[in-house]
Amino acid sequence: MGLLEGKIGIVTGAGSGIGRVTAQVFAREGASVAVADWNEESARETVELIETEGFEALTVRADVSDEESVAEMVRHTVDRFGGLHCASNNAALGAGFHPTHELDRERWDRCLAVSLTGVWLCLKYQIPAMMESGGGAIVNISSVSGIKGQITQAAYAASKGGVIALTKTAAAEYAQRGIRVNSVAPGGIETPGMASYLEAFPEIREKTEKLHAMRRFGRPDEIADAVTYLCSDRSSFITGQVLGVEGGVQINAHDI
Ligand SMILES: NC(=O)c1ccc[n+]([C@@H]2O[C@H](COP(=O)([O-])OP(=O)(O)OC[C@H]3O[C@@H](n4cnc5c(N)ncnc54)[C@H](O)[C@@H]3O)[C@@H](O)[C@H]2O)c1
Repeated sequence: MGLLEGKIGIVTGAGSGIGRVTAQVFAREGASVAVADWNEESARETVELIETEGFEALTVRADVSDEESVAEMVRHTVDRFGGLHCASNNAALGAGFHPTHELDRERWDRCLAVSLTGVWLCLKYQIPAMMESGGGAIVNISSVSGIKGQITQAAYAASKGGVIALTKTAAAEYAQRGIRVNSVAPGGIETPGMASYLEAFPEIREKTEKLHAMRRFGRPDEIADAVTYLCSDRSSFITGQVLGVEGGVQINAHDI
């Protein structure tokens, strides 16, 4: 039996990278999954990959920064599958690479709107749907940047720090109502998002690898497996936690 057998899930930002693989793992583990992304074409590609393996998935065009769009994403999922038990709020947007005083207001606002407000909007609509479904588990994707900060990424790091605070708050609020809320904080992961960063700054690859005690980037499936565990009943006594899936980037990774 799969870890998510019979459950109904939503993954946002599931048209690419970590979100895509998370949706695939949810489906392999027995969940019916809504594949949400503002890029409908890429969401559809993810659904096709899932269907090719013989599992069920639903394409949802959703912009997580838009309240009506998030409400519709949850409504559509519940109408199609009959409830909601798990969610990975994964969609996020960076603001480029600028020292804090050079970052412009528009980029800051856009990054926060998607990467922080978007996660709150997802919680706002997923939580009532989960309460009506008898409980559930939510995993918000943060980042090591939200724990340590990250130079030239003030907006992104602040949004991820906010995601961690939001996760702990919601976990406390709904712990007695059958809903667990946790966060996974990835280190550097090889995804299309990371690939475009490394293309712009090729010299960063080796430096970034060295920051990780394991001396490598992670794979999307290594994040997806942690998310799936935290969405499953195997983690039934875990809430309000931030699980670093980051190859040792927060421990002293220097050679002596
Ligand atoms: N890749 C890494 O190294 C890394 C490290 C730490 C944290 N993370 C986090 O993991 C998550 C996934 O990262 P990734 O590297 O797979 O990203 P990615 O750029 O490959 O994919 C992100 C997906 O989110 C979608 N998206 C963006 N804005 C959206 C919106 N407003 N509404 C709906 N969908 C939207 C994009 O269309 C895309 O499909 C993000 O939260 C990211 O911050 C990634």
